[in-house]
Amino acid sequence: MNTTLKKIGRLIRLPLNASYANKRLAEYHSKPRNLEEVLDWAMTFGGGGYMRVKTQQIRSEITRLAEAVRELKPKTILEIGTASGGTSLIWSTLATERVITCDIQDMTHQTKLFSRFPPPGSNCKVSLLSGNSHDPGFKTRVANELKGDKVDFLFIDGDHTERGVTQDYLDYREFVRSGGLIAFHDIVENQPLVTNQVYHLWKHLNNSPFATEFVDNPDQCGFGIGILRVPEEGASALPNP
Ligand SMILES: C[S@@+](CC[C@H](N)C(=O)[O-])C[C@H]1O[C@@H](n2cnc3c(N)ncnc32)[C@H](O)[C@@H]1O
Repeated sequence: MNTTLKKIGRLIRLPLNASYANKRLAEYHSKPRNLEEVLDWAMTFGGGGYMRVKTQQIRSEITRLAEAVRELKPKTILEIGTASGGTSLIWSTLATERVITCDIQDMTHQTKLFSRFPPPGSNCKVSLLSGNSHDPGFKTRVANELKGDKVDFLFIDGDHTERGVTQDYLDYREFVRSGGLIAFHDIVENQPLVTNQVYHLWKHLNNSPFATEFVDNPDQCGFGIGILRVPEEGASALPNP
């Protein structure tokens, strides 16, 4: 199906899909959720078209990452690569003030639903920014959103080419506070797509004392999460590829 027809189909089904997503969100928010439950919901929320919520992660890996992020007691989280909002749902529970999530796709239809991800009573605000993370103007937009504040956690899960992920790392690491975390998705060498080249960056970063890996199975195809902890001296002290 060509892209235009796919978009028209999604727009026709939007009211039905929105109604289902709202029902699921009400169920999700019907009681306080611990982290395990939030992760379950991020994997199984479901739905269709623009209103689908699902993370593209391995459960054990995203659990370890979410636990590490929770330890930071984060106020603000920045994510490059929203897709169906599964990881944004998780970050929205952990961050107390702000989740900024970015995607090259137009996220207009998802904005209302995703802005309601934080649990009842939370002061966390979710902002969806549509645009190419590599555009200098887009980086300025992110900087303007942050108004000089640093983020506690940066999740890089957007452009998976070596050039693209390297650019995201070099461009956005300055926004992360000392002691904060930067995570990369799809770090294992064996990948289902030739354009998944995060491993080529990660092999330069992995030898540093700031690096940790969460990989479910060393023989797996795809996935794997690599983490860097920003040292006291700041992000400029992190290794360069
Ligand atoms: C693997 S998905 C993100 C999955 C999501 N973090 C999760 O696990 O729930 C990658 C997303 O990055 C987006 N993306 C790719 N290149 C990008 C770029 N240059 N700028 C912003 N987003 C980009 C894609 O449109 C896609 O939705």
